[in-house]
Amino acid sequence: MPIIVLSLGGSVLLPDIDSPNIKPFISVLTRISSNHRLFVVVGGGGTARQYISMARSFEADEAFSDELGIMVTRLNAMLLVGALGHAAWPSVATSHTEALCAAESGKIVVMGGITPGQTTDAVAAVLAERVGADLFINLTAVDGIYSADPRKDPMAKRFDTMTPADLLDVVIGQQAVAGVNTVMDIVAVKIVERCGIPLLVMDGRDPSLLESVLKTGKFVGTLVTASKKTPFQL
Ligand code: UTP
Repeated sequence: MPIIVLSLGGSVLLPDIDSPNIKPFISVLTRISSNHRLFVVVGGGGTARQYISMARSFEADEAFSDELGIMVTRLNAMLLVGALGHAAWPSVATSHTEALCAAESGKIVVMGGITPGQTTDAVAAVLAERVGADLFINLTAVDGIYSADPRKDPMAKRFDTMTPADLLDVVIGQQAVAGVNTVMDIVAVKIVERCGIPLLVMDGRDPSLLESVLKTGKFVGTLVTASKKTPFQL
């Protein structure tokens, strides 16, 4: 079975506790797991940012704020575990090794954050390397990687394919503070570069798109790969 690691942004799954988007993912992830080995790393979304900004108002340091963010990612991950029911391993893996062990069950393995100073994109990239994923997919609230922020610059262009080195150029100037909202974590990009696993960055808000990408290999988004081979074959 092909091995897929998903970085499922909190902004996609649970933008806010009052506006969850978990239900549409349940059937899609369950179906995908019948013919793929599936690992899902869940982000913190709006709730993580609320906690982080409250901590900052008490002048907490960034690492403390990261710890709070990690707790929220794990809370969101646990919610997804509950929503997936028997299709998922019943606890949130708190290390990559734990995720590997849980995968022996054949069930969907869910993780959140693990260590301060990074985001769940980095957790997912390392997991992709660790499990020898065939494809690493970053499901975000934007439909790919752009030359500039498309919300601010109408001339911004989406890249269909790019190399990890190109992506590093895009992310290199990003801030690295708790709760940061960026294209992709620089640590994640470095891992993608070293492991050579193709990374697809796509809009995750409609999970049916994910299913069709895995069926057809055709995507709307950005494929980050050194080989520039597109569409990919699983
Ligand atoms: P993420 O940034 O990964 O979640 O984690 P997100 O914001 O929901 O992701 P996107 O933007 O939708 O894709 C939230 C925060 O938790 C801390 C960081 O402060 C991060 O900004 N975190 C997360 C860590 O410090 N370490 C981790 O391993 C994961």
